[in-house]
Amino acid sequence: MPTGEEPAERDPQGTAPGAPVLRVRGVTKSFGGAAALKGVDLDLYPGEIHALMGMNGAGKSTLVQVLSGVHQADGGTVEVGGHVEHGMTVRRARRLGIASVPQRRELAMGLTVAENVLLGDLPTRGRAVRWKAVRDEAREALHALGIDIDVTRTAGSLTVAEQTMVEVAREVRRGGRILILDEPTACLSAEAAQQIRTLVRTLRDEGVAVVYISHYIDEVMAVADRVTVLRDGAVVQSAPAAEFDAGGLVRAMVGRDVVSRRAERPGPKDETGLAVRGLTDGRAIRDFSVDVRKGEIVAVLGPAGDAQSRLFDLLSGRRRPEHGELHVDGVPVPFGRVRASLAGGLRCVTGDRRALGLVQELSVDENLMLAGDRFARRRLHRRGHLARRAAPLRRTYGVVSLAGNPPVGALSGGNQQKVLLAKWLQTEPVACFLEDPTNGVDIAAMADIHTLVDELASRGVAVLLASSSPEEVMRLADRVVVVSAGRTVAEHDTTAITRDELVATALGGQAQ
Ligand SMILES: Nc1ncnc2c1ncn2[C@@H]1O[C@H](COP(=O)(O)OP(=O)(O)OP(=O)(O)O)[C@@H](O)[C@H]1O
Ligand SMILES: [Mg+2]
Repeated sequence: MPTGEEPAERDPQGTAPGAPVLRVRGVTKSFGGAAALKGVDLDLYPGEIHALMGMNGAGKSTLVQVLSGVHQADGGTVEVGGHVEHGMTVRRARRLGIASVPQRRELAMGLTVAENVLLGDLPTRGRAVRWKAVRDEAREALHALGIDIDVTRTAGSLTVAEQTMVEVAREVRRGGRILILDEPTACLSAEAAQQIRTLVRTLRDEGVAVVYISHYIDEVMAVADRVTVLRDGAVVQSAPAAEFDAGGLVRAMVGRDVVSRRAERPGPKDETGLAVRGLTDGRAIRDFSVDVRKGEIVAVLGPAGDAQSRLFDLLSGRRRPEHGELHVDGVPVPFGRVRASLAGGLRCVTGDRRALGLVQELSVDENLMLAGDRFARRRLHRRGHLARRAAPLRRTYGVVSLAGNPPVGALSGGNQQKVLLAKWLQTEPVACFLEDPTNGVDIAAMADIHTLVDELASRGVAVLLASSSPEEVMRLADRVVVVSAGRTVAEHDTTAITRDELVATALGGQAQ
């Protein structure tokens, strides 16, 4: 626990033992008249893992951005090591040892791990970079945190978890003593999330103050020493993690209980809606086959990332496989053509809503209509028409309406995810492929999205769901296919298996 820790030796602020390394008082921040932070207090101690929780839009990332100098607070004070900091900037924050690993990875993907770790600080002799020293120092930085990654690999070839670890190592090497991780385990497999938690514990034991943002309640209960819950830009509760239980945490975040239980659905029909045969792309997918009946939800459980986004690329027609067949409603659909996949009645919803799913600069309504019929697209410029067409979709999918029709990028993650689903599923598809539909979504929005997926299946749509969450699979799917290294390694009826048994098969026989 924080107060029992020895004072951190390398603490640049020289914080007295038992004193908070960071003290936030009454911080406010508005965006164009809308208050995102309404007087937030926060104390952060060296050697603690401090979870920051709250629903989408509660203000977690905004608080982090204020602390790391990306945004200027409108009011309130931030004290670091006993000194009040006026006008925090990114450079100042960095000098004070405040580092953040944001929601999106920020590595130079074409550079090696070693180069990324030492970026901006490459050892040189004259004008020549000392490459051996680069590799040695990077290796040392990773090793000190118990991270085992070959430093000569390019960042782009790493898994998301490995990229996170490299970013953490870089920040610690640069002197980060207050490390903020914004949803580091979103979309990771159970095993990869475990590695990140191990790393976070190592950091804590080194005396780093870790701010940990996550929507996963079990995870927070397992890793955090202290939990602060934000709701609508204000702190509603801040206490040692041991004083919370899961239900209490949900009530603090949402203001009510949230139940997301497996729903009663009509059984699947006999007809096959979606059939995939022998799909092979020579890389992440090897001989993948699955049959999904109409009204059935079949989950593919595996680590997020490569295999899942490859499946998205192949099924949506963005990429051609080496081999394989795809049938929708019994009709063969050619690969490699997005239009053919759509015309066949298959809708694929990407897990990468920022890069592929939504046009961040366009409004919610414009985004909703982008996947609609061509008629709607041609009329896109006619605002009244657009709003009339979009209104029922917003209602069905429970998308919030914000004043002034802001770009979709201003919406919270959960609301963006609902826009994405509405965009693709508005026309009744025969089959759909959903890639991690609740990625980065809060517990209430997650329950809503699960209900939407249930309804889809109830209407007879064949649903193939790629998920990295065993809970989600158990909640939604009739059957689950476990994929490892691109191959199907197991298949289960979800009513005949427990969550823990599922995790055990997914991890190759080892329990978590
Ligand atoms: N640059 C911005 N311009 C306008 N509004 C913003 C901006 N950044 C955040 N907001 C708004 O501030 C509020 C808080 O957003 P924030 O991103 O901090 O939420 P969050 O708790 O991190 O949510 P999530 O769990 O979805 O990541 C939201 O209403 C959001 O729409
Ligand atoms: Mg956020």
